[in-house]
Amino acid sequence: MTNATILIADDDEDIRLALNLLLSSEGYQIIEAANAKEIIIQSNRQQPDLVLLDMNFSRDTTSGQEGLAILEQLQPLNIPVILMTAWGSIELAVQGLQKGASDFIEKPWNKLKLLNSIKQQLSFSRVKEQNQGYRQLLAPENKKAWVCQSPSMQAIETLIGQIAPTDANILILGENGTGKSLLAERIHQLSLRQHAPLITVNMAAIPENLFESELFGHQKGAFTDAKQNRIGRFELADKGTLFFDEIGSLPLSLQPKLLRVLETGQFEILGSSQTQVADVRLISATNADLNQLVSKQAFRQDLLYRLNTLVITIPPLRERLEDIAALADNFISKFSDKYGKHALAISACALNKLKQHNWPGNIRELSHVIERAVLLSTTNEITALQLLLDNANNISDEVVLQPLEQAEKQLIEKAMTVTGGQVIEAAKLLDISRNALYRRLEKFAIHHAE
Ligand SMILES: Nc1ncnc2c1ncn2[C@@H]1O[C@H](COP(=O)(O)OP(=O)(O)OP(=O)(O)O)[C@@H](O)[C@H]1O
Ligand SMILES: [Mg+2]
Repeated sequence: MTNATILIADDDEDIRLALNLLLSSEGYQIIEAANAKEIIIQSNRQQPDLVLLDMNFSRDTTSGQEGLAILEQLQPLNIPVILMTAWGSIELAVQGLQKGASDFIEKPWNKLKLLNSIKQQLSFSRVKEQNQGYRQLLAPENKKAWVCQSPSMQAIETLIGQIAPTDANILILGENGTGKSLLAERIHQLSLRQHAPLITVNMAAIPENLFESELFGHQKGAFTDAKQNRIGRFELADKGTLFFDEIGSLPLSLQPKLLRVLETGQFEILGSSQTQVADVRLISATNADLNQLVSKQAFRQDLLYRLNTLVITIPPLRERLEDIAALADNFISKFSDKYGKHALAISACALNKLKQHNWPGNIRELSHVIERAVLLSTTNEITALQLLLDNANNISDEVVLQPLEQAEKQLIEKAMTVTGGQVIEAAKLLDISRNALYRRLEKFAIHHAE
């Protein structure tokens, strides 16, 4: 992309100067930022096409935590970020990639590699931009692999073959990372609505006061901030599938609003009195125990009955070891392609180790473990050592009697290790809110990003 704007984010003035000279001589427009605040402000204001982000900010830290925190804040902007890491800090690079960075280069950089990476990321993001907007609406044929070797997954496969083409509402249950979202996509693709959109609504992520506007849409002027007409998710999903993710997080106060449209099939756009008809097929998912929520009066029984015409429970990975080899192969080929490593295979010993692990984070955890191993691999075989599973395991799985606080601290440490320090995912594993986890991390002085 000619004329692309690149933000150079590094606190070292000499490095900024050197990069500025190199990149402007290639025709790029350059913006510079020297600290976290400037990076966030410049990225929001100037909307650069790419950010080159140094990972070690304040001169006294080398852990890269500040860089990771900045990376997290840049994510919503959807700008490709190339990380600059000190030579040898591959672990940090991996954490960065898992948090959404596009690529990394090691300092001191090789000019050609750096320029190539920039070119590549800019062209990827242009294609992505062109596709954006179409993507969700058109729901293109999805090529994501679906592993179902184990008897329990085979049973699910048979079941969805029968129920996908119907309009029955489906509730998918399962622990974090077991594949609930992927299964929802698969059901949509096997349904008669496959050419219409699959629209996802994450019930945990919608602010309470925007719920109706998100779901039903609003007309310009319907409330103070309604500056434009907005199409709601029900309308977007018309003739297609609506996927309510994390349905267990829907606040009780909002449940009647959802119930009404599910009961009558009708809703009104905010600011309009005209009644609309919703032609959608509903799939919902949660890792919560909805029956228990009902008995605690945190979830309405009548709403549950609208959602759970058919229930599919995806078993945790530790209960379907037959899937592990195929899943591992699938992730190895995915990440080998991503990182340009070819003909990689997994050693028998490493595969055994995968089968012995407990997988509290299920398939998502397996995917992270394999991604890291692919990056760490130096030959064409992934060894047991490169899985780095022992670290995650050294906190005993057995329950021992000990002060409750100590047990709490250990569980939190384990969740942080298993998720590679990703607070959002660790909070999911512990089934507490992100803020609750932050408070505990502070309380126990457990190291974490931001
Ligand atoms: N059967 C499968 N075959 C191949 N890949 C899978 C399978 N199930 C899940 N995955 C992969 O595992 C990862 C986690 O899956 P997914 O996001 O669907 O889980 P989830 O249950 O929705 O998690 P969460 O509870 O956090 O929402 C994704 O990368 C997904 O592509
Ligand atoms: Mg999900």
